[in-house]
Amino acid sequence: MSRKILVTSALPYANGAIHLGHLVEYIQTDIWVRFQKMSGNECWYVCADDTHGTPIMLRAEKEGITPEQLIERVHGEHFRDFSGFHVGFDNYYSTHSDETRDCANDIYRKLRDAGLIEVRTIEQYFDPVKQLFLPDRFIKGECPKCGAKDQYGDNCESCGAAYAPTDLIKPYSAISGAQPELRNSEHYFFKLSDPRCEAFLRQYTSKENGVLQNEAANKMQEWLGAPGDNKLTDWDISRDAPYFGFEIPDAPGKYFYVWLDAPIGYMGSFKNLCAKKGLNFDEFFKKDASTELYHFIGKDILYFHALFWPAELQHAGYRTPTKIFAHGFLTVDGAKMSKSRGTFITAQSFIDTGLNPEWLRYYFAAKLSNSMEDIDLNFEDFCARVNADLVGKYVNIASRSAGFIAKRFNGQLAPADEKLPAIKAIQEAAPRIAELYEAREFSKAVREIMALTDLANQYVDSVKPWELAKQEGKESELHAACSNALNLFRLLTVLLKPILPVVAARTEAFLNLAPLTWNDAQSLLAAGHIINNYSHLMTRVDPKLIEKLVEANKESLAPTVDAQKQAESPQRHAQHQQSEVQAESPWEPYCNIDDFMKIDLRIARIANAEHVDGADKLIRLTLDIGEEKTRNVFAGIKSAYDPASLIGRLTVMVANLAPRKMKFGLSEGMVMAASDSDGKKTPGLFLLSPDSGAQPGMRVK
Ligand code: 2FM
Ligand code: ZN
Repeated sequence: MSRKILVTSALPYANGAIHLGHLVEYIQTDIWVRFQKMSGNECWYVCADDTHGTPIMLRAEKEGITPEQLIERVHGEHFRDFSGFHVGFDNYYSTHSDETRDCANDIYRKLRDAGLIEVRTIEQYFDPVKQLFLPDRFIKGECPKCGAKDQYGDNCESCGAAYAPTDLIKPYSAISGAQPELRNSEHYFFKLSDPRCEAFLRQYTSKENGVLQNEAANKMQEWLGAPGDNKLTDWDISRDAPYFGFEIPDAPGKYFYVWLDAPIGYMGSFKNLCAKKGLNFDEFFKKDASTELYHFIGKDILYFHALFWPAELQHAGYRTPTKIFAHGFLTVDGAKMSKSRGTFITAQSFIDTGLNPEWLRYYFAAKLSNSMEDIDLNFEDFCARVNADLVGKYVNIASRSAGFIAKRFNGQLAPADEKLPAIKAIQEAAPRIAELYEAREFSKAVREIMALTDLANQYVDSVKPWELAKQEGKESELHAACSNALNLFRLLTVLLKPILPVVAARTEAFLNLAPLTWNDAQSLLAAGHIINNYSHLMTRVDPKLIEKLVEANKESLAPTVDAQKQAESPQRHAQHQQSEVQAESPWEPYCNIDDFMKIDLRIARIANAEHVDGADKLIRLTLDIGEEKTRNVFAGIKSAYDPASLIGRLTVMVANLAPRKMKFGLSEGMVMAASDSDGKKTPGLFLLSPDSGAQPGMRVK
């Protein structure tokens, strides 16, 4: 019987670019959803941009636009990136929508009527210059434990201590630099510590209940505390104006904290889809619904999805999630993604560099499992696997047999040999592989599929169509061999279709087939079936593209748009802190004069400027800063300047930036240029110039 399933991926913040770290989750979810759909289940996949909160408000302010304009632009960028990686949402919406607002108000009112909302006065830091209450991450100061300077308001990156922002020594606002004032304000709390929530969550998150992976269930037991020792603390769900979000219905000037309406955005997006498709919203969200609801998330946001969200749903009279699937983080070549190493790779740069998104889908699939362990993108391994498995093994089966069918047999197939061991092996393995997809054990599924691909290749190698083709009187053997090979290829394509939707669609076109479903793994093509001309399905990865990709992510002069969020740790919940779990402030943190003086800025005369062979963005500058020797600097300004026009002019350089070895030579500093927020609008870049009279070598301060 067909199941009815609603699936979500976490909603990305509307102030940062999608990067490969995000894509682990969307690709994982998309593979699972495609598998469900091709298995005949009714499965809906919804997502949205997470649009509210202080960082988004400040970012829009910095760009000189309204938050609405910002979130609209980013929505377009996110949708473009997801589509580029073939993530097939049924709806990609926004939390800034009537549907999400209605659902948020409804849930809030029901929780309030159930006695689970409490108003309390709290003391919080206020920025007297910006006139707003500061989230933890926007307050900095000295660590109360170890004295380290410039630590965030929630924990110290130097000694690891967790504390309240009010514990910081010499606190300052990371937005304006002003000394914050403590002010009282009324906040609205969701009473997570209420015995009803505790009792529900103990049962809901238990291993026996099976909603969570074992590792996650263990974590929950820690957060809940031993029975009789309730460690749950109430959750502050309100923020004061000015705030970009939804105003709380009965509390003018108070807004829902972004994390309150974010998961409700899943409902909002689905409600919007229901209106478009005529679906029944209640069938998926009413209490005890028989439909299934799955959330794919990163392990850092378990607290929100496994505690707050189910507790809200349960006590507002809705169904709770069937399962919550948490995955680990992405590392690149064994280390955290890094902007300076060029491994903080945006989705757009991957596509712009000419890499095939299905290579990444396959590679991630080959690494993903039902665990919360981190996965590593190792570029050498990436090239080797894609080239060996997809091109060398899988596509090769079709490319070695399709041509003969077209040229020698008018595109018509001979009957397939249903007793062929490779065909039988695939058909027997299909149900097992289906179980692996269902259990999100994609790496195991890929391993099995590749073992079957080896069997198919062994068959082709044993019959050698290319030799049969040269021999007289072997027509029917050649016909049978190629027809069997194409049948094997079709069966393997069924198994790979959730991972490689584009290759599968091209295969359907060239084999002249209706869209393949999972059941098609049990059938063979009829004798006489006519196929279309074969065109190549996938090329090999050229390792040079990887170098280009890493360079492209290194060279960017644009100010960093860090979409990496600051996850709210359980300690922080436990301490009731007011934190904004969101991207960093769009403004650099406040620095003192000593910090500033560490940067040795000098007037430089551009003695020479020239193009750099093989670099799309760079100009090689020879700079005179009054030293004996000139400096060699590579500047990413080619999009805005013709080298000849730069020779002779004065500019400003950072003279004490550690020299950096680049592909094209040593770069001994950096010239300074202004750019708009994303560095992409034309003309985009503006090299600084001093007033006339300045001399090379003069210090700028
Ligand atoms: O951590 C994040 O990136 C959040 N924007 C995820 C929200 S998921 C859901 F709750 F909306
Ligand atoms: Zn410290």
